[in-house]
Amino acid sequence: MAAFWAWFVAAGTIAFVIWCVWLISWAGKQGPQNKQDEDLVGHKWDGDLEEWNNPAPKWWLYLYFITIAWAVGYMIAYPGIGAFEGILGWSQQGQYEQEMQAAEARYAPIYERFAAMEFGELTRDAEAQELGRSLFAGYCTTCHGSDARGAPGYPNLTDDDWIWGDDETAIIATITHGRNNVMPNLSPALGGDAGIDNMVNYVRSLSGAVAADAAAMSAQPMFVALCSACHQADGSGNQALGAPNLTDDTWLYGPSAESVRETIVQGRNGVMPPHGGLLGDKRTKILAAYVASLSDNE
Ligand code: HEC
Ligand code: HEC
Repeated sequence: MAAFWAWFVAAGTIAFVIWCVWLISWAGKQGPQNKQDEDLVGHKWDGDLEEWNNPAPKWWLYLYFITIAWAVGYMIAYPGIGAFEGILGWSQQGQYEQEMQAAEARYAPIYERFAAMEFGELTRDAEAQELGRSLFAGYCTTCHGSDARGAPGYPNLTDDDWIWGDDETAIIATITHGRNNVMPNLSPALGGDAGIDNMVNYVRSLSGAVAADAAAMSAQPMFVALCSACHQADGSGNQALGAPNLTDDTWLYGPSAESVRETIVQGRNGVMPPHGGLLGDKRTKILAAYVASLSDNE
């Protein structure tokens, strides 16, 4: 906060407290002290119940003064007046760091034990799996679902079909660095709507979703020319490039003709954000072992 604004806020805060004190003392002195007829406010209930214009009771005013005194004490102890940090030296950041340090001290020995374990061991260790599950719940379920089964565009992590591979290195790389996966729009090269339809049918025939009739097969040379660099000539994909296998019945974006057409006409860009900075190496390894075990259990 710039010095001017710090002083501005501080002056405003102090002026407001003084104003409160004045207002309450002033209000305490208002109203008549002797009860005479003209001091009735004029409200009447049940025929003879009337209201006097009396000052507020003293004990009520004292409550206000006590809250003000409390507020002043609080602002001296904690940050509250402009840039003044308070005599206790408390800060949000400080409290956060203190709590993080306490958590670190508590979990460090557990993480040390897991860090020394082999990846394969971690996938079978009940305690590591429990920790992996809670990390997954905290960081991954928004996209991959609480059951890790994903959604269109967000891969299912419980099946045996992997875009990037299921070994330790691949999963740790995905979690640490994220993935920015681009399928280019190649439709202009396909010769118009009929050419696109044939390509859609050819791609779907690879997994047996539709019959490989003559029209679909007419797109095969085009597939080899345009698509095989990433998906391989037989459509089985390439994990090194993140190009999905098109011959199985597991789909990232869905098996329907509409979805395959959309992929070809618009291209796709699946983004998995990097989590390495957030998680650190030790937790990433535990989480990766948990993810690897999800499909092993199937
Ligand atoms: C913002 C959404 C998002 C979040 C959060 C997210 N992911 Fe992903 N993840 C994706 C997308 C999208 C892909 C697919 C990327 C692609 O198209 O290649 C993906 C891919 C993956 C893959 C590769 C799957 C394969 O078949 O090779 C793994 C493993 C993975 N995520 C694990 C995780 C873990 C563990 C977390 C929690 C730390 C996580 N993801 C958090 C969106 C997300
Ligand atoms: C430069 C590499 C590259 C080329 C060339 C390419 N693709 Fe892809 N394709 C990808 C990638 C990468 C993805 C995954 C995109 C994502 O994760 O968001 C993908 C995804 C797809 C999907 C969706 C699969 C699913 O599981 O939902 C289809 C269908 C597809 N491609 C068909 C084609 C066809 C047909 C061609 C040729 C016309 C082609 N691709 C050319 C890289 C490529």
